[in-house]
Amino acid sequence: MADKLLSRYEELKAQVNFHNYRYHVLDAPVISDLEYDRLLNELKKIEADHADWITPDSPTQRAGAKVSEKFEKVRHPAPILSLANAFGADDARAWFERVKKLDDRVEKAKFVVEPKIDGLSVVLHYRNGMFVQGATRGDGEVGEDITSNLRTVKAIPLKIPVDTKGPKPPSHLVVRGEAFIPIQDFEELNRKLEEAGEKTYLNPRNTAAGSLRQLDPVLTASRPITLLVYQIVHAEGGRVPTSQWEILEYLKSLGFPVSDVPRRFNDLDPAIAYTETFDKGRDALPYEADGMVIKIDDLTLAGDLGFVGKDPRGAIAFKFPAREVTTTLLGIDVEVGRTGVLTPRAALEAVEIGGVVVRNATLHNFDYIQEKDIRIGDRVLVKRAGEVIPYIIGPVVDARSGKEKKYKPPTKCPACGQDVEHIEGEVAWYCVNAACPAQLVRNVEHFVSRGAMDIVGLGIKIVEQLIEAGLVKDVADLFTLKKNQLLDLEGFAEKKAENLLGSIEQAKGQSLNRLIAALGIHGVGEVMAGDLARTYGNLSALSKTTADELQQIEGVGPNIAESIVDWFARPANQKLLKKLKAAGVDPQMQKDEKKKEGAFTGMTFVVTGTLPNFSRDDAKEFIESNGGKVTDSVSKKTSYLVLGENPGSKFDKAKSLGVKIIDEAELKKLAG
Ligand code: IVH
Repeated sequence: MADKLLSRYEELKAQVNFHNYRYHVLDAPVISDLEYDRLLNELKKIEADHADWITPDSPTQRAGAKVSEKFEKVRHPAPILSLANAFGADDARAWFERVKKLDDRVEKAKFVVEPKIDGLSVVLHYRNGMFVQGATRGDGEVGEDITSNLRTVKAIPLKIPVDTKGPKPPSHLVVRGEAFIPIQDFEELNRKLEEAGEKTYLNPRNTAAGSLRQLDPVLTASRPITLLVYQIVHAEGGRVPTSQWEILEYLKSLGFPVSDVPRRFNDLDPAIAYTETFDKGRDALPYEADGMVIKIDDLTLAGDLGFVGKDPRGAIAFKFPAREVTTTLLGIDVEVGRTGVLTPRAALEAVEIGGVVVRNATLHNFDYIQEKDIRIGDRVLVKRAGEVIPYIIGPVVDARSGKEKKYKPPTKCPACGQDVEHIEGEVAWYCVNAACPAQLVRNVEHFVSRGAMDIVGLGIKIVEQLIEAGLVKDVADLFTLKKNQLLDLEGFAEKKAENLLGSIEQAKGQSLNRLIAALGIHGVGEVMAGDLARTYGNLSALSKTTADELQQIEGVGPNIAESIVDWFARPANQKLLKKLKAAGVDPQMQKDEKKKEGAFTGMTFVVTGTLPNFSRDDAKEFIESNGGKVTDSVSKKTSYLVLGENPGSKFDKAKSLGVKIIDEAELKKLAG
């Protein structure tokens, strides 16, 4: 019986590792997420009963214990070299001419062209097929042992799958690659941080490098780091190919992630031409690349050519023209978002970066300007990478004349002139006036959206039209629109006007939770809106509440309580509520709806990330049907954080507060 279970366990490990490989290395999964989770859960169940069976290559063993204080040093088995640069085709040809003089074989050499990913160089050791150590490059001789962090990178095989037919891989194999965060994943990460009012990251490279040097692997695991390998640094107890092209093929066959960009050429000119197509199409690469690498394919020849300092003569980095330039910071504009967040934006003296004229750049937040001591009139270093909005790296302090002016964040909203506010613990500043014109378009857009009042047929174009025509000055005006007013607008005929008025009329009957969520109060999402609706029963009661009373509600901390009280205290918002009521929008709800009793009675849950089987609504329903409560934010009172894929900052917060963390399967188990 135990034998059978053990072999099932081995089989599951192999299967889950294989599907990890299909997903994270090949980007071509062959089963659904649901099926994958089933396998993983079965594996976890066996491990829970047989802890002594667990081996380091089990897919459950990726995020291990914290590194104590600092990383140990690792001496590399061979120098981890860097590359000499070529800036353009002429430089590359000059390199070829130079090395040709050193060795006749170069004349007939083939070349491999690879992307030069702007990430962090890492060195991975495999002993008898098992991943045993991973290090940073360090000074090229000695790096830092970041094994526990690298284990969390799912693209890194924990075990080289053994092909019983092929020759065994070397007993000690050391490969080198570049760890990085793809641009899209980076933007997604920043979007989540921004939503949580937290500091965003500057660029994918620093984020990847910083995350891999975290002492806590759980944090590294929450960052979307991936990797591509390109070199065998050392091989013992087995043969490896002697040409770069075959090395790439070989690494691929061993299950390592290898780029599909590389190509081999018989001459230098087509290699250069290929390189140049990537300079033009650089934005098409899913990661940041600062150039391409041209390598002599024959590694024996390349090795014989030797080095100059730390740069091997057998390869050259063909650098793309830098997408970093200096220009003058003319001023700082402030933009106002839907929730009233104020974002500073740099107005620059126009400058061309990589074929695009740049006049604006992001400055992240007001803290960033202060931290970097960016002053108006400064020469600033601006970078444009991928499709990411250009950003300011920092000022060129040496170029200062003394006339530069320190910047003070606005105390009034630039669009409506009302005071701005800062929420303790967040980096953002807000304009809290619901009637602020800059927020109006975005506010209306949010108000009518699917998760809020769900007014069908009221897209952004029409919202803009209504505001431009002066028909809508706040969201309440939507409910008093007349047919003849709509018919005056371009593109509106009888039918369209009637349809729109019909769906607006229908929205008057929306529930109180939807209306509260639609108001766009900072920190109040759909879940919290439901809690407020149940607690207060109508808007008039909610608007009379105090911060203390609000904090009695699970999940409402002092910041959100203050934000709610503040919102209702604003005269403009009070006026809005009156108008809504007069228009017939005043939903009521049964107060303190009797909660179901069950296994979760008295417990509070927060859900973060994507769960394998449950949608957010499913999870909420499941928890509530078992008597539990779901809230939006993690606090000390939270009983459990339910963790899914790609969690947000709630995960970090739960860890720092010591809140118990479970996954969907454990949640179900808990419910019995
Ligand atoms: S080859 C002898 N190939 O670029 C091997 N390097 O200054 C020398 N890099 O620190 C390196 N992609 O981290 C090589 N396909 C690639 C690369 C690559 C990125 C990085 C590497 C190195 C730097 C070179």
